[in-house]
Amino acid sequence: MTRLLTRAALVTLVVSLPAWLPGRVVALRNRIFARVNGDEGLAIPGDVVGIEDFKRVYADPAAGGRSKGAALSDLFWYWLAPGPEVHQEHLEAGPRYDQVARTTRQILVKTKKESEELTERVTRHVLDELDVGEGALVRLRDTVMPIWAELYYELVFGEPCPREARELIVGNADDVVSALKCVRPRNMRRRERLTNYVLRRLGDVPHELPSLLSTKEQAYYLQGAFFNTAVVQMSEAMAHLLMAVAQHPEVQRRLAGNPGDDGYLDAVIDESLRVFPLFGIAHRISTADIELGDTTIAAGTVLCFSYPGYHRAGYEHTDTFDPGRWARRAAKDSNFIPFGVTQNRACPARGLAPLTMRVVTREVLRRFTLSSTAGHTRSIPNRGPCLFVPRESGRSRRGVLAWLAVRDRWEDVWRSLAQLVFGTYMVLDARKKRLTETYFETEEPRCPMRSEA
Ligand code: HEM
Repeated sequence: MTRLLTRAALVTLVVSLPAWLPGRVVALRNRIFARVNGDEGLAIPGDVVGIEDFKRVYADPAAGGRSKGAALSDLFWYWLAPGPEVHQEHLEAGPRYDQVARTTRQILVKTKKESEELTERVTRHVLDELDVGEGALVRLRDTVMPIWAELYYELVFGEPCPREARELIVGNADDVVSALKCVRPRNMRRRERLTNYVLRRLGDVPHELPSLLSTKEQAYYLQGAFFNTAVVQMSEAMAHLLMAVAQHPEVQRRLAGNPGDDGYLDAVIDESLRVFPLFGIAHRISTADIELGDTTIAAGTVLCFSYPGYHRAGYEHTDTFDPGRWARRAAKDSNFIPFGVTQNRACPARGLAPLTMRVVTREVLRRFTLSSTAGHTRSIPNRGPCLFVPRESGRSRRGVLAWLAVRDRWEDVWRSLAQLVFGTYMVLDARKKRLTETYFETEEPRCPMRSEA
């Protein structure tokens, strides 16, 4: 009897693992991260800076330090390597930053028509290779990543993307995003293969590259901004968007039935970026005191701006995915900054990104019906498992969707354990390497702070 009871308890424990283990492992990982990195940041919104002052502090000219003086930066530099010191996101203000930002703008500038045509061409090229037969399970992030690899290669090199380059770019971006989510340790050899390719091809880039950067730094800059950030961010944004569409059949029906309705598609994109902002936290280091009513935020404070915290405040049923809310309110009057704040280094692709997302969404929905029973969280470590069925087929695949739900919950179990191990290893390794501190100790004169003009 006792043995029977013990066995029943064991079975119950094992069967219930997906319900409780992943959450606890994630909480443990967060505690380990906080312990290793220390409690250095000022959380915004929070007790000191409320929602009402969020944007005002973010936009303050003194909220300008980027990497120097924050232990948190060590971790970001570790994840974005090689060349994090010339990654546009992490360069301190000054002439090198100005040149880099100008070059990025020049590479991204295209007319609306040109951008749409380019996106449509590469999307068709990639999706034509996708054989889903009568229907197949895909991972959305993996499915769309080659589209963005081809698109950003073409913007940088001004020619269609060769297969070799596409594989190297996807390999690099996949490695960065997997390490960021702690599902794998970073693989520097994989990333260096792309650096060597870009270095070899630097002479073919039809844009003027920042002259204050060395040849190697120019390659790092292109790799960091376009073959890492652009490809990773667009793949993540698209995975969220298509996952939300797959899980809201009424939204999908309206989009597929009215492919010319840009207004509704924009509302769906905005709602996806609101509920699933790509940035968890963006940080800055204050370069001077910031006065806020009775409070002074001291110079040298690490300001941690929480996008999910900001995007959740001031909305009815805030956790509900409801594109219809954007018919009743304007984005500019809402707590909504998917691309950052214009006064403080906002995303240079804030015009191009939504435009290209529209084209890809339309093309995917023209071909396939999407459904998914997998979990959908902001960090989306499952890469968006989704069933693609050719639109003309009309078959329902309830069995596959039931199996997908079970598989996803069990994947959560092993993935959370892997994230605990790899995350802890990478946080400790980043701490040991002290990339930011070491760089500023040796390279100080090359990084003048911004003289706020
Ligand atoms: C939907 C897709 C994207 C979203 C939601 C997004 C979001 C953001 C946000 C919120 C920031 C500001 C972070 C901060 O204040 O620290 C940012 C910065 C940046 N983004 Fe994006 N991004 C996207 C796509 C892209 C693409 C396609 C590129 C291509 C080059 C790009 C390049 C950058 C760069 C270089 C910065 C740093 C800007 C600077 O410091 O001067 N992003 N992005």
